[in-house]
Amino acid sequence: MEASLPLFEDLELGSNVTIADYGCSQGASSATAMQKLVARLPTGSSATLIFNDLPSNDFNSLIKLLPKISSPDPTTTIYPSIAPNSFYNPVVPASTVDIAFALSSVHWLRQMPQPKPPTESIEEYLSKRAARNAEASHRDLVYFLTLRSREVKSGGNLILAAPSPTADDNDGRISGNEKLRLAVFTAIELLIKNGKLPVNAMDRIYPPSYVHTEETMQAAISETNGAWIIEKVYSRVIHHPAYHSMIESQKRAKNEDTKVVAAKEYANIAVDWILAVFGPFMKGWWIEQDVEESYCEQVFQECSRLAKEEFWKNGGTRCPIAQDFVFVRMGRQ
Ligand SMILES: C[S@@+](CC[C@H](N)C(=O)[O-])C[C@H]1O[C@@H](n2cnc3c(N)ncnc32)[C@H](O)[C@@H]1O
Repeated sequence: MEASLPLFEDLELGSNVTIADYGCSQGASSATAMQKLVARLPTGSSATLIFNDLPSNDFNSLIKLLPKISSPDPTTTIYPSIAPNSFYNPVVPASTVDIAFALSSVHWLRQMPQPKPPTESIEEYLSKRAARNAEASHRDLVYFLTLRSREVKSGGNLILAAPSPTADDNDGRISGNEKLRLAVFTAIELLIKNGKLPVNAMDRIYPPSYVHTEETMQAAISETNGAWIIEKVYSRVIHHPAYHSMIESQKRAKNEDTKVVAAKEYANIAVDWILAVFGPFMKGWWIEQDVEESYCEQVFQECSRLAKEEFWKNGGTRCPIAQDFVFVRMGRQ
């Protein structure tokens, strides 16, 4: 979220403004961005704030955050509203939005991608996945941009932050991300081998997401018939803070055992981080495969424990986990 702030800073804000967030989730980043904008409104303003996410999103935490979005100016009135809908549908009436943003959400595809073919190894499937999803991803992004071009007023803005391909051994920077994914898949394989999960437990657990680059963003924007022009674009690597906490703890450690404790703590946080994304897809698919719901939760916890051990054993804790992001601000023509 912080890395996207330069895109919000010099936006022109009128005194009657509508701001929409597409893919707001539990609302923490959304409320921060909305607050930054609301705090800069001219005196006597009226601000309509629209929070969009899928109808399946849990909007409760967001609702609790809404009273915290306030203007220092008591003459400003704020009208928050929730729009539960897919952002691959029209979400608000045409030409009503001044500022739109979507932080870490346009990488979610409209449809589930192709499952892992049984003949492919995990490594092979992961290496081919981006290329296989590229066409659908481009189509979805053009569609998203076209829908938003109807909703955002001429002269308005759209800000996107999307995950980019993360460092791996190929580009000279080494991240622990690949080892983290492998740790999770190795844990699932072990559970299948031990008869605790069905043999096809791995087939449909991959989130329907894609990683964008500045080039793929530009290619999609250029297909919107001049609706959008790029005002700013940049990329950043966002490191997970847990790696640096581990390094600091290890510097202070008086013996090897304490260093191992810090590394294991990092492994726990890293695996919880990836399972927060993969978990719902894993459990959803296993339940579809007739794994009983309470047993599913139990086996998921076992998977998490095994993945944490595996990430520590496979050397993942020696590398930072990170996510590269691409940031774009567009102006509506
Ligand atoms: C990684 S979260 C990002 C949340 C938030 N914007 C942030 O930066 O913390 C992605 C969000 O996009 C939402 N999302 C995915 N596909 C969507 C769709 N088609 N329509 C609306 N929201 C969607 C998900 O439900 C999820 O809440």
